[in-house]
Amino acid sequence: MKIKSVRFIRSAPIWNTLPVEDRTEIAFVGRSNVGKSSLLNYLVGRKAIAKTSGTPGKTAALNFYLVNEDRKDGGFYLVDLPGYGYAKAARTQREAWQQLIGRYATEREQLAAIVLLIDSRHLPTAIDEELIELLRGGVVPTVIALTKGDKLSGNQQRSRVSELTKLLAARGIEWPIVLTSSAKKYGADELWRWISLLASV
Ligand code: GTP
Ligand code: MG
Repeated sequence: MKIKSVRFIRSAPIWNTLPVEDRTEIAFVGRSNVGKSSLLNYLVGRKAIAKTSGTPGKTAALNFYLVNEDRKDGGFYLVDLPGYGYAKAARTQREAWQQLIGRYATEREQLAAIVLLIDSRHLPTAIDEELIELLRGGVVPTVIALTKGDKLSGNQQRSRVSELTKLLAARGIEWPIVLTSSAKKYGADELWRWISLLASV
């Protein structure tokens, strides 16, 4: 994907504040600290348009970034989400986010593709499992980005991808899986190919 422009548009903490325009949206979903904001930055080639942190809970709303707005179709949004199930947030806040993320991922009309991020170092955790179940129940096409691939050896990377493929296939899920590293900058081309295909952007 050729990124000609990217601009932060708005931070939406509740459903009623989501943008009203009818532009295609692509969302980054995953547990806290998995690397959503870092991957978004890497995909658009900006160091810090989305704020990142080693401390979980950095992204605290749905943040909308408008990409290639000069295109005839007005471009599209990349949407950085708060961490799903962030354990340290107050219970009411955590539940409010989970509800908002769940509703956004399953009911948002403009949402054309979801990038589900899972840490490449672990098999899906309980929170990842919850998200997999949530998303498979929706209708939005999904691609999995395994994050922090730089923390694994080549062999570990290959076996993680095949383990996850098997685990999903056993449940009848056939989402593509892309190994990424925002730190070492790989996986973006392959991930963009899937996003373009799934979301028609
Ligand atoms: P929340 O907004 O809190 O939900 O987190 P997030 O999913 O947006 O994660 P974020 O991008 O803020 O990254 C969390 C931490 O992981 C930061 O310390 C990043 O530097 C680190 N990180 C992200 N991607 C990578 C990667 O590819 N490799 C390595 N080694 N570290 C990464
Ligand atoms: Mg974030």
